[in-house]
Amino acid sequence: MKNMNFLFNPNLSFSYGGIGRLSSNPFTAPLLETQFLDRRYQFNSAGYHYKEVSNNHDDRKCIFVPTVIKRLPNLENLFIHDLATGDASWAKLFADKGADCVAAIDESEYQLEIAKENIRVCKRKSRIVLMNEDLSRMRGILHADVAFAGFLLHYAKDKNMLEKLCRNIAKNLKPGSPFFALNSNPDNPLFNGEKYFCDISASGNLEEGSILTITDYDKKHILQPCKFQIFQWSKETYESALRKAGFDDIKWHDLVLSDDTSAYSPGYWDHYISNQPTQLIECRKVRS
Ligand SMILES: C[S@@+](CC[C@H](N)C(=O)[O-])C[C@H]1O[C@@H](n2cnc3c(N)ncnc32)[C@H](O)[C@@H]1O
Repeated sequence: MKNMNFLFNPNLSFSYGGIGRLSSNPFTAPLLETQFLDRRYQFNSAGYHYKEVSNNHDDRKCIFVPTVIKRLPNLENLFIHDLATGDASWAKLFADKGADCVAAIDESEYQLEIAKENIRVCKRKSRIVLMNEDLSRMRGILHADVAFAGFLLHYAKDKNMLEKLCRNIAKNLKPGSPFFALNSNPDNPLFNGEKYFCDISASGNLEEGSILTITDYDKKHILQPCKFQIFQWSKETYESALRKAGFDDIKWHDLVLSDDTSAYSPGYWDHYISNQPTQLIECRKVRS
């Protein structure tokens, strides 16, 4: 693939202002100015192709969904939090699994607009309530039976923010209830996933607070890649923040593969499963 090294340079990023559908191949498109990608900017820009590029990858249905479904309790008649809901695809899945009500929360108005459209076009019995909140500032007003966060905690740019996120998640959860989080795997965060249209890199040595750059590529190579910056924290740091917030029984689950991968060549997912760039955290809010 032409110019791949160029694109994988984590010090370089695209300017997203006014991006539209590209007429040329993004792998040969010129890079524009270097720019720090603030998370609000990443998810709020209307020109950003997160929906088409990042949410369209097969690891979602073949790996993330089976990994989460394997661990979640029976959701029938429960009140679920889908924290950092993005386009609400997890919220829809939880509704499909019989949840009574799903509070789908995100700080990005743009993501919630996409979520609104996603929810409008499906007929579900359970209620999905969209809420525009910064979870690092959210008050304790909801009492969920289960909380789930798909790719939220690793956006905490310092330990203080990580602790605030965990505290607010705990505050909105019933005592004894579980919290699940898909998250960067602190022990193995870097990933050369070119064949899965995703790459995770860092510019220097990995240490606490290092910036990791996730690059998601469009499967059809029409749209510009999406880049996100997340932060590297050790398992001890995550666990300390969770314990301070009132969680215990913390486990890190490996990703698992769907039973049905017949659409892929044999061994296609082996590299993903043996590298585990993501893991599922499971913990429980203490009872008292
Ligand atoms: C990578 S997307 C994941 C979306 C969805 N959970 C999924 O798995 O497809 C991360 C989401 O986290 C949201 N987010 C990040 N920090 C947040 C915060 N402090 N409060 C609320 N939402 C946040 C972003 O707006 C974005 O929609």
